[in-house]
Amino acid sequence: MGVMSWWQAYGWYSLRAWLWLLFDIITSGLFYSKKQVEPRDLKNNVVIVTGATSGIGKETARLFVKSGATVILACRNHTLGEQVKEEFYKDKATESSQILVLSLDLASMDSIRSFVEQFQRLQLPLHYLILNAGVLGVDLSYTRDNVEMHFGVNHLGHFMLSLLLMETMINTKHSRMVIVSSTMYVLGSLHFLDDMHYKKRRYSSFEAYACSKLCNLLFMHELCKRCTSANLNYPSIVAVHPGYVHTRVARHLNEWVYYLYDRVASLFLSSPEQGAATVYAAAVDWKSFSGIFTTNVDQLLTLAPHAVDDSASKCLWRKSLSLLYLPPQVIDKLRYLGMVDEDEYLQCRIKR
Ligand SMILES: NC(=O)c1ccc[n+]([C@@H]2O[C@H](COP(=O)([O-])OP(=O)(O)OC[C@H]3O[C@@H](n4cnc5c(N)ncnc54)[C@H](OP(=O)(O)O)[C@@H]3O)[C@@H](O)[C@H]2O)c1
Repeated sequence: MGVMSWWQAYGWYSLRAWLWLLFDIITSGLFYSKKQVEPRDLKNNVVIVTGATSGIGKETARLFVKSGATVILACRNHTLGEQVKEEFYKDKATESSQILVLSLDLASMDSIRSFVEQFQRLQLPLHYLILNAGVLGVDLSYTRDNVEMHFGVNHLGHFMLSLLLMETMINTKHSRMVIVSSTMYVLGSLHFLDDMHYKKRRYSSFEAYACSKLCNLLFMHELCKRCTSANLNYPSIVAVHPGYVHTRVARHLNEWVYYLYDRVASLFLSSPEQGAATVYAAAVDWKSFSGIFTTNVDQLLTLAPHAVDDSASKCLWRKSLSLLYLPPQVIDKLRYLGMVDEDEYLQCRIKR
């Protein structure tokens, strides 16, 4: 690719993003203390981990399995999920746990619906919902429902999954939702809400990723605002930055950029186990807190104003709702649970 076409394709945004990212990776590599956690006793607890086939999700699932919980590996690739399950069962520390593999492709609303139906047929409670799966740096592409891929997988798929599982979480005492975001959210801008699918502007995969991670935090902010009915036992919600972790997440990036990331940045990256320690701690240690953003196991991060912007979080919620296809009985349920207000309820019903 020539210099000019590279510049046109990646532009100023990506250059700024890379400089910011390299600085953040190097400084956090130097100052991140890389703590580990000990698995707690979570017998009789049920956990769903999305994206449990590799990286942070797989190691988070392993910690829950070691805790004696019933763990649902929610995987896009079912065969890979079964291999992970076999690997976990080979370990003495995990052989007594119950592990189930259920297919979940967050880029397909049909798949999300079918995952929830399968889970509900098991008639289990749900103590921990770990929203971890994610993509980074994919070329402009769309989910089966015609939504830009980063937004669709990293935010919208998890948004839909959370809404469909909300009642089960409410019916489970002390349930907890953990959203795996990233400090890269600071590079996301609220302007993306005007053109979330890049129909009118030039695409930058970095920007799309950063915006999807901003959506994770706006989703948490809005969800906390909606979990207010005194009669309902809502889950508590936390978001995490797992650190910069050496996983397969950057595999979709340009070849030489990936090489650079893999060789140079990896000197400063954490291991998937260290990333998972932050996710696990957010689930079990910070349980009485909601709406917070944690990292490095026990550190709190302050959220930038655009990640806690009331009108942006409401706008994102409404736009996200408008992209879902929900049957009337689900919409009725969501109104009862406080997840849709009267205006949204009418909009959803009219859309049907
Ligand atoms: N690594 C980092 O430095 C870093 C930093 C900050 C935040 N994070 C976040 O941490 C999370 C985990 O990333 P990772 O680093 O562990 O990456 P990873 O090794 O690439 O794992 C990503 C997981 O997400 C799954 N996934 C991708 N698309 C999916 C879809 N459409 N439906 C269901 N599952 C899908 C992948 O499944 P397949 O095996 O089928 O591809 C895989 O299991 C992501 O949300 C990422 O944004 C990572």
